[in-house]
Amino acid sequence: MGEDPASRVYVRNKERACEECGIYSEKYALPEETTQEELLGLIDTLNNKTSISGILVQLPVPKHIDEKTIINAIAPNKDVDAFHPVNVGKIMVGNYDFLPCTPAGVMELIKESGIDVEGKECVVVGRSNIVGKPQAMLLLHQNGTVTICHSKTKDLAAKTKNADILVAAVGIPNFIKGGMIKEGAVVIDVGINRLENKKLCGDVEFETAEKIAGAITPVPGGVGPMTIAMLMKNTVKAAIINKSK
Ligand code: GUN
Repeated sequence: MGEDPASRVYVRNKERACEECGIYSEKYALPEETTQEELLGLIDTLNNKTSISGILVQLPVPKHIDEKTIINAIAPNKDVDAFHPVNVGKIMVGNYDFLPCTPAGVMELIKESGIDVEGKECVVVGRSNIVGKPQAMLLLHQNGTVTICHSKTKDLAAKTKNADILVAAVGIPNFIKGGMIKEGAVVIDVGINRLENKKLCGDVEFETAEKIAGAITPVPGGVGPMTIAMLMKNTVKAAIINKSK
């Protein structure tokens, strides 16, 4: 909904990924002034449309729309973002159909890089419902020792310097400096920030961090493409689940 330029880019990338994978998709670019009732009406239509397996409402929504009401309206078996409280609860107890795309993408990067999470000190900086909280849970599922840090955390650098695996998801450009990182740590940068000069940068100051880290993800081209890959995975899973119903 609306004109958020970042959202437009994300939605276009998701559409393209669907095309590449052979997944049929429909895009509804709703004007800013669309009412909540109209949006809920569209979600209800798609919830009941058998040719649609997965539904995603790109966030943020405009101020007059209540984000929680919208997330709650998406049928849990079509919730390919895994934001609905039913899916969040299923993740908590480790009995889930869908994982949220960004944290799942981070776990996939860790796995494919041959990094074992078990027993590692894992520090997640950020506590959003989209990334920080579920990321901590997924690291815990793999037996990491997990610390969640946030804006009220005291002596953040002491916490981050203890991390074998550091996930930065605060949304502040270049927030984590090389001096805050443990020698050889795995550093995963979830941030996508646009600077005044229009350049994209992460939450980690790459130039100083790469000299200290054992492994590090770039921005762009690190976690971002993984998020989209996991969305495609969830959509295929939703198609399989909903077909057998
Ligand atoms: N806005 C930022 N990240 C996301 C995401 O993963 N899904 C949706 N729907 N909106 C977002």
